[in-house]
Amino acid sequence: MTDRPLALVTGASRGIGAAVAEALSDTHRILLGGRDAESLAALAARLPDAEPWPVDLSDEAAVAEAAAGIDRLDVLVHSAGVARLGEVAGSPAESWRANFEVNVVAVAELTRLLLPALRSANGHVVVINSGQGLSAREGWGPYAASKFGVRAFADVLRAEEEGNGLRVTSVYPGRTDTEMQQAVVAGEGGEYDPAKYLRPESVAGAVAAAVLAGPDAHLTDITVRPRPHR
Ligand SMILES: NC(=O)c1ccc[n+]([C@@H]2O[C@H](COP(=O)([O-])OP(=O)(O)OC[C@H]3O[C@@H](n4cnc5c(N)ncnc54)[C@H](OP(=O)(O)O)[C@@H]3O)[C@@H](O)[C@H]2O)c1
Repeated sequence: MTDRPLALVTGASRGIGAAVAEALSDTHRILLGGRDAESLAALAARLPDAEPWPVDLSDEAAVAEAAAGIDRLDVLVHSAGVARLGEVAGSPAESWRANFEVNVVAVAELTRLLLPALRSANGHVVVINSGQGLSAREGWGPYAASKFGVRAFADVLRAEEEGNGLRVTSVYPGRTDTEMQQAVVAGEGGEYDPAKYLRPESVAGAVAAAVLAGPDAHLTDITVRPRPHR
């Protein structure tokens, strides 16, 4: 790897995380987080200066071991996420736990482990939240609650770490054309029309805008809504 700034992007094996890795790859060395080793290797081969960082974020010991190898980090993008939807009446504890485990607990723990490395670099933490983290809809309870939770996490982290030179950005995308959205629409029983949804590259563009903003600027919250397109 070269001496360009280093970014770790979780959820980089597909969807929004893969697009973020691509968008930052002109300016940053990238560690590609995810569990699907084949997809990570394929993306690493396409990008100029990237390598896989294959870790299951719900495996605390594995995360600690992988994070221990990083002593300076300029950018941490949390894009890994799961969406287990359902009405409250039909959502058992397991469904709430599954959302909170990856969407909140793993985000907090990975950030905690990497804080010294981020502080060393006056670094930047970006959390891919969701429109559901701003306004919760019926049928989305367990996922929306996790996104409200991770919004609180980002707000608190910003308040606590701004004095240490960190920037913290929450990005709130609407429906985006990824495998996660395909599963959501399949569950809702609707027809999947990608033209109605954001492209992952557009969400990645918002992340890049925050990361590449001048050192005097701190973009704290960015909402990106889909606009019908063909
Ligand atoms: N798509 C949308 O409409 C939409 C809208 C708003 C917000 N978001 C948010 O955007 C983020 C990315 O979503 P997406 O649509 O790109 O989803 P996606 O296509 O389903 O990708 C999810 C990513 O998360 C990773 N991941 C999940 N569980 C993991 C675990 N235990 N350990 C490590 N990695 C894990 C997956 O990697 P592996 O399978 O390789 O582990 C994959 O790279 C999520 O936080 C989601 O909530 C999505």
